[in-house]
Amino acid sequence: MRHLLGLEDLSAADITRLLDSAEVYHGVGVSKPKRDDLKGKLVVTMFFEASTRTKISFGLAVRRLGGDVQDFSSGGSSTSKGETFLDTARNIEAMGIDAVVVRHGSSGAPLALTRSLQPRVSIINAGDGAHEHPTQGLLDIFTIRQKKKTVAGLTVALVGDIAHSRVARSNIHGLTKLGAKVIVCGPPTLVPNEVKQFDVEVAHDLDAILHRCDVVNLLRVQFERQRGAFFPSVGEYAHLYGMNGKRLKASKPDVLILAPGPINRGVEITPDVADGPNSAILEQVENGLAVRMAVLAETICSRAGTR
Ligand code: NCD
Repeated sequence: MRHLLGLEDLSAADITRLLDSAEVYHGVGVSKPKRDDLKGKLVVTMFFEASTRTKISFGLAVRRLGGDVQDFSSGGSSTSKGETFLDTARNIEAMGIDAVVVRHGSSGAPLALTRSLQPRVSIINAGDGAHEHPTQGLLDIFTIRQKKKTVAGLTVALVGDIAHSRVARSNIHGLTKLGAKVIVCGPPTLVPNEVKQFDVEVAHDLDAILHRCDVVNLLRVQFERQRGAFFPSVGEYAHLYGMNGKRLKASKPDVLILAPGPINRGVEITPDVADGPNSAILEQVENGLAVRMAVLAETICSRAGTR
């Protein structure tokens, strides 16, 4: 696997291999010694959208595997002088790099890089528009497997802004490939018709499905991607789709609560649930490092297969 653009492109075996590999990397640089899988390799992070977790996580993952990481910040760069995204990337490539981790507001930007840069440069998608966010999908599934010991046969609800969420799309592809049942739940205006082409159940009443769910993944309303009003008020959204103490009581006692972050406390999740015993939100962040180490090592180091 040379690039990672989305979980849609991967087989169940590919996903399982990456999850197994992430288990080996779990704790590297913290509870286990640093490694040198990426010794002599240079990874550039190119983020054209805001990020806290993903960017820091990729940077630490590279360093804990002994590689070098260079950050490109779009603010203050020559893109503000009119240079195109692809020209910027080609210029960075000319400095001799091994991989680009890219986040961009346009769906398909990472794919465009695979066509413009030399094949020896790995492209890893860190979130493109409303398309995919494969390492987030992998770390969500890793956390589910860690907590529930299996993925197949579980019922997982993705709740919220399905229409604008790249996390939703990566979860749908990854979870259904591994045999989980996926329910997408949100206001009708935020659940697009196209989602029905995937093997998912569509629901609009969270209270009606909660008792069936083993995992509830609460997606942030992507206000920055929305054009127009999709529900009357944030208060009404929280009333109908927010995970709170009352809804937690109506769920299975061992329901696993996930959220990709950033969380908006009081909107998609209340603080008591976010910080409570069913929540694995911070473990997701920890697991993100392991998953990203696995992805970096596989894409940069094992160039035997082509994709
Ligand atoms: C997600 C993203 O950027 O798509 N954040 C993340 O990477 N953890 C989810 C979000 O912004 O809501």
